[in-house]
Amino acid sequence: MPTDETVQQLVTDATAAPSMHNAQPWRFRCLRDSGTLELRADPTRAMPASDPAHRALHIGCGAALFNLRVAAAHAGLPPDVRLLPDYADRGLLATVSLSDNPPDGLPDSPADGTDDGLAQLYPAIHRRHTSRYPFAEQGLSDSQWAALVDAADREGAVLLFPSDWHLELLLDLVQDAEGRDDPGRREEIARWTRLGPAEADIATEGVPEYAFGPHKRDGRAPVRDFAGRRPVADRGTTSFESRPNLVLLGTADDRPADWLRAGQAMERVLLQATLDGLATSLTSHALEWSDLRELVRDPASAVGFVQMVLRIGHGPQGPTTRRRPVREVLEFV
Ligand SMILES: Cc1cc2nc3c(=O)[nH]c(=O)nc-3n(C[C@H](O)[C@H](O)[C@H](O)COP(=O)(O)O)c2cc1C
Repeated sequence: MPTDETVQQLVTDATAAPSMHNAQPWRFRCLRDSGTLELRADPTRAMPASDPAHRALHIGCGAALFNLRVAAAHAGLPPDVRLLPDYADRGLLATVSLSDNPPDGLPDSPADGTDDGLAQLYPAIHRRHTSRYPFAEQGLSDSQWAALVDAADREGAVLLFPSDWHLELLLDLVQDAEGRDDPGRREEIARWTRLGPAEADIATEGVPEYAFGPHKRDGRAPVRDFAGRRPVADRGTTSFESRPNLVLLGTADDRPADWLRAGQAMERVLLQATLDGLATSLTSHALEWSDLRELVRDPASAVGFVQMVLRIGHGPQGPTTRRRPVREVLEFV
């Protein structure tokens, strides 16, 4: 049975995961008797305007679940994961058994003894940060791409490379989304951004101004501008790359279990990229509008649903953004 301190460390590692607007929409409960950790959605941190179906919420929680698996494997506690184990309780997103007596039923992921790569990703958990800086006009090597494709594949998702026309379309769709003004989404951005050093430097949730990156003068990298029209001191303006390396993460289906898998796959790709010295950012703009999300999908591709757009390249890592203290998200029973 893991000690309380070990469980606290595992949850600290889990919560380093990315989440939409850094809302951290998760809660953990440790059942000491059975050595099981429950991962629950926190609906008070949902985004009704930008994410009415809670797809992005599940993706963030899936990323936290993946970090938890990596951290457990690293601690020598092979995790046994069940996704959405209780049909009557859909807020219970996953159970992770850390004891030698896994629960009944089929495991959702291979026993980590057979998944050697998991523990090796551990150093990347706290090194990975969203980078809203310009990246070099430089592609990735074949072996780097192959490792990322493999990372998504291991988690049951697909990484797709847009062709030239598809990339143009994708960038147009992001621009379209950026140009739409919706009061509900604007309010959510305002609620989840922290402006002014006094607020930003101590915030344990939301996107702090020091993580906004510079204002874009030109270039086509789809980097979200969290400031909008609000002034941010000392932010600077700069050119971004004109041909960003974008990849689409897709799944065959579009149900909560697929979103949790997509979140795990996304985090596995991000950690692998970080381990390879690459910088990453995410773009969900165009996926937050159902009409645009349909168009993001290449009709010729075999992938059913696009879950995330990732930008991966050579550039500076983003800054560390803080998380809520573990005692606020973890309870022991
Ligand atoms: C579902 C989802 C959607 C996201 N969408 C965007 C986005 O459109 N633009 C962006 O800059 N970051 C996006 N992010 C990244 C979050 O803003 C980021 O993870 C969060 O602020 C915490 O920062 P960190 O990734 O550096 O730890 C998204 C993350 C998730 C999980």
